[in-house]
Amino acid sequence: MDKWMEHVVDPTVDERTGEAEEELTLRPQYLKDYIGQQKIKDELSVYIQAAKQRGESLDHTLFYGPPGLGKTTLAHVTANEMGVRVRTTSGPAIERTGDLIAILSDLTPGDILFIDEIHRLPKLIEETLYSAMEDFFVDIVTGSGPTAQSIHYPLPPFTLVGATTKAGALSSPLRNRFGIVLHMDYYTIEDLEQIVDRTASVLDTSIDEKAKHLIALRSRGTPRIANRLLKRVRDFSQVKDEDSISNDTAQEALDILQVDDEGLDALDRKVLLTMIQHYQGGPVGLRAIAANISEDVESLEDMYEPYLIQKGFIRRTPRGRVVTEKAYAHLGQPLPS
Ligand code: ADE
Repeated sequence: MDKWMEHVVDPTVDERTGEAEEELTLRPQYLKDYIGQQKIKDELSVYIQAAKQRGESLDHTLFYGPPGLGKTTLAHVTANEMGVRVRTTSGPAIERTGDLIAILSDLTPGDILFIDEIHRLPKLIEETLYSAMEDFFVDIVTGSGPTAQSIHYPLPPFTLVGATTKAGALSSPLRNRFGIVLHMDYYTIEDLEQIVDRTASVLDTSIDEKAKHLIALRSRGTPRIANRLLKRVRDFSQVKDEDSISNDTAQEALDILQVDDEGLDALDRKVLLTMIQHYQGGPVGLRAIAANISEDVESLEDMYEPYLIQKGFIRRTPRGRVVTEKAYAHLGQPLPS
């Protein structure tokens, strides 16, 4: 057994904290149970297999793509497949170099360190990561001025798994230190149907084919949303004492949740209406839209805009965002002359 493997602990031990138990069981634990993202699974399974054959830790891996697509899940799946532990933190949670050192020095060989929202790491901390990623050491400076001392601190080999909604927001020195970079895209309707099916059986709930399809259609390519909608629809169905979630009930629940047939929710429509009614359809900056609807720019940019663009309701131009004819038609608004 290779040296670092000696420290591997039971991979079923879950290091996540503060998360509902149900959320954990809902998540697939191994690649074979992970639905969709076929290209990523194919690639990742080769890298995992090869690293295991060599008895090495997996190269540093970056997952990027819109929120809710399963980046965190994949990080845990990767750890399970490698048979290693995972330590979880996030960019905004690491405020000082000391926070990072504390996490790094707690790693055992082979561990995965998962940093969610890695694009939000403070610059100084990002720079500390460079040597940790590249050569598994950090230099800690103590004291200041003439008495300042640099202590060389070796680290065990580990795998950094980063997740970000914006690969472009990562500095290139950091991005370049990831040997594996995988882009996650929205899921197909068929994949989402399978995910709804899987989640329904984990929740011990029966659901009609049509209801499943409807939820898949309305969940904007995102498993997190599909699972959330399923849970709400299940509530309506349960209160109606149905044996199996019916299409009618799913339809009714989605209407009440104000999720329309393009998967847009009330806030999506508010974004489009604001652009149409206050800015003549644009071009308008994201900041102005955010201020108008009292949302923060970050969630507008990460959660709303990518889907509106993907569905062809908004276009990005050098002068700002513009709504498309499709948006006018969808909202029943007259086109400007
Ligand atoms: N639950 C959420 N995302 C999933 C996925 N990609 N595969 C299986 N179950 C999931």
